[in-house]
Amino acid sequence: MHNFSSTTDNSATKTDTSTSSASKGSEKTGVGKFQHVDLTHPLDQKMVTAGKAVYDLKCASCHKLTDEKLVGPGWKGVTDRRTPEWIMNFVTNTEEMLEKNQEAKNLYEICLVKMPNQNLSDDDARAIVEFQRNNDGKK
Ligand code: HEC
Repeated sequence: MHNFSSTTDNSATKTDTSTSSASKGSEKTGVGKFQHVDLTHPLDQKMVTAGKAVYDLKCASCHKLTDEKLVGPGWKGVTDRRTPEWIMNFVTNTEEMLEKNQEAKNLYEICLVKMPNQNLSDDDARAIVEFQRNNDGKK
């Protein structure tokens, strides 16, 4: 049996934007339809506000904005730990991510609760990323 999981962080900063084999998704983009997300600089404040509304309604019961775990991990630093694609795939395709993505499985091992799919629209998911970037002090 081969062990394909690699824990080494390939941080040689290769930004490969070729689309040839991207559709399957990788450990860093996760499993789902989001394979390339364009971030804006500066942050889109409308999305930050929209993301906060989603957070207050659907996420705050399990996620703090600090690094403290509640039911799920605190969100501080999440935009450094994860790519925007991974986050958007995780929050829209939660079941499959928890089944197939090693990083997501690792979180489950720690939290011992499976995050229920929150039925976010694509726009909600994108707004959440912007809200998290704002929480992480990104500009
Ligand atoms: C019932 C509790 C619960 C709710 C509600 C919830 N989550 Fe989660 N979330 C979790 C758990 C638990 C995990 C860790 C993975 C697992 O065990 O399923 C997690 C993991 C995550 C992660 C990965 C965090 C990291 O450190 O990589 C993101 C991103 C996330 N959730 C986003 C959301 C968003 C966005 C919402 C609201 C729309 C939300 N969650 C609502 C429980 C919850």
